[in-house]
Amino acid sequence: MLNEELQTLRGTFPKLEWEREIGRGEHSRVYAVTRDGSPLAAKVGALEALKHEYAMLRRATGKGIVPVHDMIEGSAQKSALLMSRGQGVDFVDGLRKDVDAIPDESLGGLRRNLPIAFGYAQQDEGRSAYRVLNETGLRRLRHCARALAEAVEHLHQAGVLHLDLSRQNVLVDDQEVMVIDFGLAQFRDAATSTSDLCVAAYCAPERSEKPPNEASDWYSVGALLFEALVGQVPFPGEASRAFVEKMTLSPSDPRDLCAGVPDDLAELCLSLLARSPRERGGVQEFRVLAGW
Ligand SMILES: Nc1ncnc2c1ncn2[C@@H]1O[C@H](COP(=O)(O)OP(=O)(O)OP(=O)(O)O)[C@@H](O)[C@H]1O
Ligand SMILES: [Mg+2]
Repeated sequence: MLNEELQTLRGTFPKLEWEREIGRGEHSRVYAVTRDGSPLAAKVGALEALKHEYAMLRRATGKGIVPVHDMIEGSAQKSALLMSRGQGVDFVDGLRKDVDAIPDESLGGLRRNLPIAFGYAQQDEGRSAYRVLNETGLRRLRHCARALAEAVEHLHQAGVLHLDLSRQNVLVDDQEVMVIDFGLAQFRDAATSTSDLCVAAYCAPERSEKPPNEASDWYSVGALLFEALVGQVPFPGEASRAFVEKMTLSPSDPRDLCAGVPDDLAELCLSLLARSPRERGGVQEFRVLAGW
C-alpha cells in the first residue's frame, strides 16, 4: 500500500513506479523508482534547480559519476531527475563500517577527556568515538580514495566543478565510489563565489572570498579522506567558528589525532588541505598511494 506522498507522485509521474524515499535534503527528496523494469533513483524538486543539475551531470558523465537518465518536467515545484540507483552508502560510514565503535557506556564520563594519543578520535556532536582503521580498512580507503580522485579529475577535465563534495554526496560500496548531488556544481569557466551554500566541514577556506576552482574540490576530498581516516573532519564543531578556524589555522596532523595513521595518507590529507589553493595538492598527490 503506497503512502499518500507516493500516491501523489504516481499521479504526477505515472510512467514511474514509486517504491520508497531513499534520501532527502533541504530542497529535494530522492526516491527509489522503477521505469520499464529498471531500478532508478528519482530526485524530486524544483524544475529550474533540477535542470541545472541535469546539465551538469550530462557534461560530467563518466566513471565514478552517477549516470543520469532523464529529466521529467512536471510543475515548477515538482519535477524529477532520473539517475541510476547507487547501492553504496555515505563515504565515511562505508569506509569506517568495520571499525569498532567504542560504546559510550564503556567509556563513561571519560570519553570527552580521553587522550587523543591513545588512538581515539572524538566525534563531533556526541557520536561514537572511533579507532584508526585496520589493515583491510586502510586498503579499502586507498582504493576508494583513488577511485574518488579519478572521478573528480574526470569531472574537472569535463569543465565541471562539483563544489559540494561531502560524505553524503559520495556513495561507496565494496568496490565502487559514486559521486552524486550536482545541485551546486558550476561550469569551471563561469564559476562564482557561493560558500554560504556548501557544507562548512568540507568547504575550502577561500570559497567565501573568491570564485572557486579545481583546488576547492580537492580541499573537500582532503577533508573527506581525513574524516575517513580518523573519524572526524579536520575542523569539527559549529560551522561559522570552524570556517574561521580553517581560514586562519592549519589542520591537525592526522597522525597526532590517531595513532597508526600511515605517513603517506597523512601527508596526502595535509597536502589537499593546504590553506592556500595555489599550494594545495591535486590529483598528482594521489600517486603516492600504493598501486596508483
Ligand atoms: N542516485 C542515487 N542513488 C542512491 N541514493 C541516492 C541517489 N541520489 C541521491 N541519493 C540519496 O539521497 C540523498 C539526497 O540526495 P542529494 O544529495 O542529491 O540531494 P540534496 O542533498 O537534497 O541536494 P540539494 O541540497 O542539492 O537539494 C543522498 O545523500 C543519498 O543518500
Ligand atoms: Mg546532497
